[in-house]
Amino acid sequence: MFTLSLILIGTACFVATTPIANDPFTIVSSDVSPSSRLISFDKSVDKILSFWTDDKLKAAKSVMPIRKINSQTTTKTEMPNNGPRVLVDGTMGSLQKAAISAAVNPDKASSRQVFASTGRQTYTTGKIFWNNTGNSYGMCSGAIVTSNNKETIVTAGHCCFDHDTNKFRISQNFIFIPDYKSGAQPYGKWAARTMTAYTAWTVNQNFNYDVCFVNLYTNSKGQHIQDLLGAEGIASNYPRNAITYSFGYPYNLAQGEIMQYCSGSAAASKYGNGYTGQTIPCDMTGGCSGGPWIQNFTASTGNGYITSLNSFLITTIPNYMNGPYFESNIWSLYQKCMV
Ligand SMILES: *[C@@H]1O[C@H](CO)[C@@H](O)[C@H](O)[C@H]1NC(C)=O
Ligand SMILES: *[C@@H]1O[C@H](CO)[C@@H](O)[C@H](O)[C@H]1NC(C)=O
Repeated sequence: MFTLSLILIGTACFVATTPIANDPFTIVSSDVSPSSRLISFDKSVDKILSFWTDDKLKAAKSVMPIRKINSQTTTKTEMPNNGPRVLVDGTMGSLQKAAISAAVNPDKASSRQVFASTGRQTYTTGKIFWNNTGNSYGMCSGAIVTSNNKETIVTAGHCCFDHDTNKFRISQNFIFIPDYKSGAQPYGKWAARTMTAYTAWTVNQNFNYDVCFVNLYTNSKGQHIQDLLGAEGIASNYPRNAITYSFGYPYNLAQGEIMQYCSGSAAASKYGNGYTGQTIPCDMTGGCSGGPWIQNFTASTGNGYITSLNSFLITTIPNYMNGPYFESNIWSLYQKCMV
């Protein structure tokens, strides 16, 4: 069903070099000339991967925003969906095995633990790392989503774009390590090739668009990550207030060394001021940023649809995670990056 050019990926992640002020839906990318970039692994990619020693990985710190409530009231902002419901199914990877345990974990409010079943989410979710100045390192979480180019992951905008420097972190040894576990990297490290977000995030810091799609290089054998590990499905304008699973690597639990999860019913966030995102009961904190929210999640297979991600906490509402609602604009961004 999916085809791709093995050599050039000139159309991926369309770039606007001069964002139009005040248009929040200008797509911006880290890559100034995507058509000149090879998909394939080369020496520069090898350099990015070998930058990461175990000590550097362990030293990485999380970056999750903690916001003060942004409205005078706790009135819920419930915006109508802004387009058709669209979805793409997850895909199977050649290394993805059937789930080891079909145990169904409870949909308990605030439930949080290591998920019992090693389904698709184990292969597709991973840890993200980059370097900052002064030998300090950052970390987030992210997940592979089904794409034609077989190399697309989704994470939070605040993981890709640094508002202090006003730059994407593309030149900061940005990598993805799927199924990271206490230093183990069973499927290796994967370097970022491009990262793309809306000016709604990069310029306006609008948390409705705290979303970034990252395209990865192949590994040294020229293999695409999705071919090996599969991908989760993704959906937009999906039902609100539904049972949602969230995965990620929060620093408050096992120092971010092990993938954790939360699950529960999503509800409208109380952040206010036009925030259309949802909130789920969850005691994960920084480090799980960018980790996927999956609806219609089947515990025995790990299959489902990514409909949001871990974005921010609110100071006065502990144990609730907020995430942007994937609607038509986010779907358009995905469509640009998945080709
Ligand atoms: C990250 O590390 C590279 C070396 O690989 C270095 O050139 C770069 O300056 C570092 N980035 C920052 C922001 O310090
Ligand atoms: C998702 O789950 C709901 C019920 O929870 C069901 O009605 C719907 O058909 C499911 N969607 C898909 C694509 O499986």
